Amino acid sequence: MSEAARHRLPGDGVPAAIIERMLRVDHAGEFGATRIYAGQLDVLERRRAGAKIRRMAEAEERHLMAFETLLRDRRVRPTLLHPLWSVAGYALGAVTALLGERAAMACTVAVEDVIDDHYRAQAERLADQDRALMDTMLAFRADEIAHREAALAHGAEQTPGYELLTAAIRAGSRIAIWLSTRF
Ligand SMILES: [Fe+2]
Ligand SMILES: [Fe+2]
Repeated sequence: MSEAARHRLPGDGVPAAIIERMLRVDHAGEFGATRIYAGQLDVLERRRAGAKIRRMAEAEERHLMAFETLLRDRRVRPTLLHPLWSVAGYALGAVTALLGERAAMACTVAVEDVIDDHYRAQAERLADQDRALMDTMLAFRADEIAHREAALAHGAEQTPGYELLTAAIRAGSRIAIWLSTRF
């Protein structure tokens, strides 16, 4: 039994409305990820980083499809902010790619830092209540961690202004999560 589950009283499960919010925000996040990589690929497709970014984009596509299915099966509406994440995600991807391959990789490091924490916290909260969903989150979290490692290996930290850039993107990602949970 997980730590979170041990501290929970009997009959004290995560309310259905909270699980709906989890699915909504995760779907929004994975959609945003596909848009970030779409923006990066439009700029960097034929560069050295192109193949690596393409592989990450394919993983995000799989993550998105899984949440599409979960939303449909559990009758959860997507976030109202979908159009905003389409534009903001693409812009973030394209702008960081225009700054260079390493800045594009720094963007991945920053986003995956936030998503790593996010999925871990969600999985802990779900614990044994919804094992299938928890396993999905943990599997995707492992993919996101691999993306961060790949981005670091590609020299993310060597981009000028790395600390400032990643701090700004982390802050933006947290705001996006906050908004997508509520709207
Ligand atoms: Fe993902
Ligand atoms: Fe990822």
